[in-house]
Amino acid sequence: MTQAQEAILLVGGKGTRLRPLTVNTPKPMVPAAGVPFLTHQLARARAAGVEHIVLATSYLAEVFEPYFGDGSSLGLHLEYVTEVEPLGTGGAIRNVASRLRSGPDDPVLVFNGDILTGLDIRALVGTHRSSGAEVSLHLSRVEDPRAFGLVPTDATGRVTAFLEKPQTPEEIVTDQINAGAYVFRRSVIDRIPTGRPVSVERETFPELLSSGAHLQGMVDSTYWLDLGTPQAFVRGSADLVLGRAPSPAVPGRCGDRLVLPTARVAADAKLTGGTVVGEGATVGEGARISGSTLLDGAVVEAGAVITDSLVGAGARVGARTVLTDTVVGDGAVIGADNELRDGVRVWCDAHLPAGAIRFSSDQ
Ligand code: GTP
Repeated sequence: MTQAQEAILLVGGKGTRLRPLTVNTPKPMVPAAGVPFLTHQLARARAAGVEHIVLATSYLAEVFEPYFGDGSSLGLHLEYVTEVEPLGTGGAIRNVASRLRSGPDDPVLVFNGDILTGLDIRALVGTHRSSGAEVSLHLSRVEDPRAFGLVPTDATGRVTAFLEKPQTPEEIVTDQINAGAYVFRRSVIDRIPTGRPVSVERETFPELLSSGAHLQGMVDSTYWLDLGTPQAFVRGSADLVLGRAPSPAVPGRCGDRLVLPTARVAADAKLTGGTVVGEGATVGEGARISGSTLLDGAVVEAGAVITDSLVGAGARVGARTVLTDTVVGDGAVIGADNELRDGVRVWCDAHLPAGAIRFSSDQ
């Protein structure tokens, strides 16, 4: 057997950095390229030979099972385990252990529920088996590692340290970061403490290392993006539509745009750069939308210009309004002739009158 048959998906975080998108919807259920983001992860795991997946839920836990059910439509067997109190990443892994079928030495995959990646999952399991490690980690190389925990390795790929976010240039000893996908030897999961929050990154991994355990890193420099912020989420969705990020679950052909079947787009509107128009959404005459996501039922009026932004479910963007790098929460209404940019977050159901906010003086 060369592949892990089962996996744990961590989907219980509050997704605070992604607010207001995560006010009504847990992060893994926010649509990316037309389907809840989690669909892409489930489909990729299935394509790599995983059959049984346990979802570790907590925040807004009740929405997962009605959507994915037993997983059979994806060729999977899905189970759901909800924490009474959030247990953190390590506590969540331990909390689902009773649902695993693997033997003590078998490999169990664990995925963070907010990572978009082209990781070769089979290769990670292969590395785990050939190295004989207790835990194997996918490591990604990033240009600017300052926002991440660093994971240096020796010449054989064995992890030598877990370093917190570097504060000074001297502390940047590697460009390798923890990419949020692991293979655990099952018995290691059973040894995580129960009944209290545990962080796998800050507690379990450093403790394993200091006790002499073998942790193996696998650097895989394929597409990798943490979808934790609105900017990253919109980028990831566009990259799925453009075909830069691989997923078998994109509902349509990859290209400049993805327009879901019940959406209505004016003939002279321009949709480019991986833009998604969700179910029942409408785009008015002359609107120009690039690299952006309109969720279900969103309305964009004539002449609006939207770039690298996300418009929430049922939200409305008025005529000639310009949005750049902006997130509009579900149900919000932005009147005509506004200009929003630079990471602005408009909260769910907020109402902004016409011409209320401009950056330029050209109204
Ligand atoms: P932020 O609040 O924006 O940092 O997002 P987050 O809550 O998702 O935290 P983070 O991105 O660090 O979480 C990494 C992964 O672990 C995500 O897939 C989360 O859903 C998941 N996660 C984080 N904390 C918990 C928890 O207490 N329980 C469970 N089941 N999953 C968790």
